[in-house]
Amino acid sequence: MQREVLDPAGTEVDFLPLLGTDHIEFYVGNAKQSAYYYQMAWGYELIAYAGPETGVRDRASYVLKQGKITLILTTAIKPDSEIAEHVKAHGDGVKFLSLWVDDARSAFEETTKRGAKPYMEPTVFQDENGEVVVSAIHTYGETIHKFVERKNYSGPFLPGYVKPWNALEVTPVGLKHVDHCVGNVELGMMNEWVKFYEEVMGFQLLLTFDDKDISTEYSALMSKVVSNGNGYVKFPINEPADGRKKSQIEEYIEFYRGAGVQHIAVATDDILHTVAELRKRGVEFLYVPDNYYEDVLDRVGDIHEDLQELKKLNILIDRDDEGYLLQLFTKPVEDRPTVFYEIIQRCGAKSFGKGNFKALFESIEREQERRGNL
Ligand code: FE2
Repeated sequence: MQREVLDPAGTEVDFLPLLGTDHIEFYVGNAKQSAYYYQMAWGYELIAYAGPETGVRDRASYVLKQGKITLILTTAIKPDSEIAEHVKAHGDGVKFLSLWVDDARSAFEETTKRGAKPYMEPTVFQDENGEVVVSAIHTYGETIHKFVERKNYSGPFLPGYVKPWNALEVTPVGLKHVDHCVGNVELGMMNEWVKFYEEVMGFQLLLTFDDKDISTEYSALMSKVVSNGNGYVKFPINEPADGRKKSQIEEYIEFYRGAGVQHIAVATDDILHTVAELRKRGVEFLYVPDNYYEDVLDRVGDIHEDLQELKKLNILIDRDDEGYLLQLFTKPVEDRPTVFYEIIQRCGAKSFGKGNFKALFESIEREQERRGNL
């Protein structure tokens, strides 16, 4: 593992200042039913809606919020649409990783002049609550980064969206914000995309994991983590490495039909509560073998939480120079073995759980084997 600081004095001007993740939009097969899952199982509140009832003819979109996390679930309501095509190719998946900016025009100009492929020129959307400027560029696969400038807007979400009339009463599980979003890219493409984030978006390389860090008997992967200047936006990029059998990244790419978002890590301040609630409501997590807990404290040292409680909920523990972290991964949240979530609680640690990779990947491989994909 290697850690690099490219601009330790912070002397370079950030040409793409980001305020954080604005929202993550999925294209899904049935947004109405997915919205029910995110409300009832995950405790997201339905805050806005756009669809036929609001004059949108080709789609329906449900906007869900918990803490600072905003998800949009969008579905096609006609067969001849790019949404339907996306779902046909990829299954339910992330279309937009949208970033919150102060100036969407400048974000578009600065990134496209450095080589970003434009998706949408800066466009102003208005309603009685003000205006939002949105622009967008392509990233890996069919995934898009939108830049959303909303400083002159006070509505529920974006112009065109209304307050929903059918929101369920929900109980949040304590999710606070997006910690990081991971992309899987094709073999040999990781460094290309790291270069894209460095050169086109001004990100810095934080960490590198090679196949010696992340390998099991069967499969391996390589990963590099890039971060924007203030660290609010972190994108690990994975590619498969040679193993005896098919790696989890290859399985993803086969079923997603290309590169795309692999997992979204959401932060909590109380992982014991969050995971207990999610399990109770039917969210499925990866299984961690009991023997993981036998020597884990030798590796990570003292922690505040009770080890038996962590073991009961199958929560993983790791430590770096700055502290420790607790994390756990769901199984894929759709029938294709593609997108999943990570629940993470950081107690000082700024890393990504490298010490857990082996235990974790063995668990992932057990699931792959059950699906007949190993
Ligand atoms: Fe992660």
